[in-house]
Amino acid sequence: MTRPFIIAVDGPAASGKGTVATRLGRELGLPVLDTGLLYRAVGVLTERAGEDPDDPAAATAVASALSPDQLDDPGLRTRAAGELASRVAVHAGVRAALLAFQRTFASQDGGAVLDGRDIGTVICPEAPAKLYVTATAEVRAERRWKQLKGQGETVAFDDVLADIIKRDARDGGRDTAPMQAAPDAVLLDTTEMSIEQAADAARRIVEAARALWERSR
Ligand code: CDP
Repeated sequence: MTRPFIIAVDGPAASGKGTVATRLGRELGLPVLDTGLLYRAVGVLTERAGEDPDDPAAATAVASALSPDQLDDPGLRTRAAGELASRVAVHAGVRAALLAFQRTFASQDGGAVLDGRDIGTVICPEAPAKLYVTATAEVRAERRWKQLKGQGETVAFDDVLADIIKRDARDGGRDTAPMQAAPDAVLLDTTEMSIEQAADAARRIVEAARALWERSR
């Protein structure tokens, strides 16, 4: 059996990792999993059930019962959903409940692209291609502000920047699977890059990783 070619794309909110992951998947013909959606769904469904997202038992019960058809909800893309996701993502039980689904997705024939916070460190530490996509908080806030505006959400830029800074601290500071670059990840700073430039840079990183991987097989 051939090992799957897994591409792990990690990084903070609005760094461009989702766009990079989608482009790589399209160009290489690989399925893409936006793992943030799993945490967003758990956060939103916990709240909708009238439970407290900060309660580990309540959020873990929701995560254990999550099914893939619950990920299509447009309500998961809102600013509030991002905040709820980050709150439930600190619970070790929630992360454990979502682990098998992510690993199964990653190990399908041919490979897969997964984007998130802990793909290269915890979910797929064996992934042959790892990217850690970053940008300054100001640039990320600008991108997220425009995205939310495009979705019809009216919010002040300063509030979006404050969200991003708070989420970075919570995601990077939690005990279980904190957001961090894997030691073997290639850093891609998209601060000064257009979408096209970031996608091109990501492609070159993955091509180099693939060549090494082919040789090691
Ligand atoms: O789109 P954005 O980068 O703002 O967020 P996301 O990727 O949808 O993730 C939302 C939240 O889920 C993050 O702030 C993390 O707290 C959490 N998350 C995580 O802990 N691990 C992942 N693999 C993906 C997301």
